Amino acid sequence: MIHELSNPVITTLINQMRDSETNSLRFRQIIQQLARLLVYESFKLIRLEKKTINTWMGETAYSFINEEDLIFIPILRAGLPMLDPVIEMFPKASSGFLAMARDESTHEAILHYDKVPECKDKVVILLDPMLATGGSLADAIAFVKKHNPKKIISLNIIAAPEGLEVIEKSHSDIDLFIAQIDEKLNEDKFIIPGLGDAGDRAYNTPE
Ligand code: PRP
Repeated sequence: MIHELSNPVITTLINQMRDSETNSLRFRQIIQQLARLLVYESFKLIRLEKKTINTWMGETAYSFINEEDLIFIPILRAGLPMLDPVIEMFPKASSGFLAMARDESTHEAILHYDKVPECKDKVVILLDPMLATGGSLADAIAFVKKHNPKKIISLNIIAAPEGLEVIEKSHSDIDLFIAQIDEKLNEDKFIIPGLGDAGDRAYNTPE
């Protein structure tokens, strides 16, 4: 299921990212802010669990997110700035890593490195600012599904409608939270209007 976060704060932050004057430090800071907002919105789906704690009124049961159930997986490189802000919110959560890069000519994703903890019965949250053709995310979801999580959520800042359609067809059981759905892909499979290459912009490497 696709959920788009429509909100003036998000529109403003994304349009700041589109600005070529926005340097890599500010670009990463905005990614971090948007990652937090995506977590707030998407975690409406997470079930709370009761835990008994000591308070000034004595022992009482209160509801909490079970942090130990969470595994955050950024898709490197551009997904990396999304990780710190979310694991700061949930210090007992685990992290995994998938390093993927699109082949510039075939536009297909290639997996270069993976380090994913045991996912059985856990909630896996994939982090990547960009969803263009959907190839990288479809491969990442297929990879994670082999590890039997109980739920997969994908958090993306910008997505193209073409890529969303691919994910809806191939992985209709996944919840996707997108800060903003852009117009389309161009013939080079770049998102229009998009942000440019998010990995390059975040890490100051030439586009
Ligand atoms: C970008 C982006 C996604 C992928 C999206 O990464 O961060 O991972 O492309 O494209 P797709 O939906 O068509 O697969 P890229 O491969 O450019 O690597 P980078 O993060 O190192 O910039």
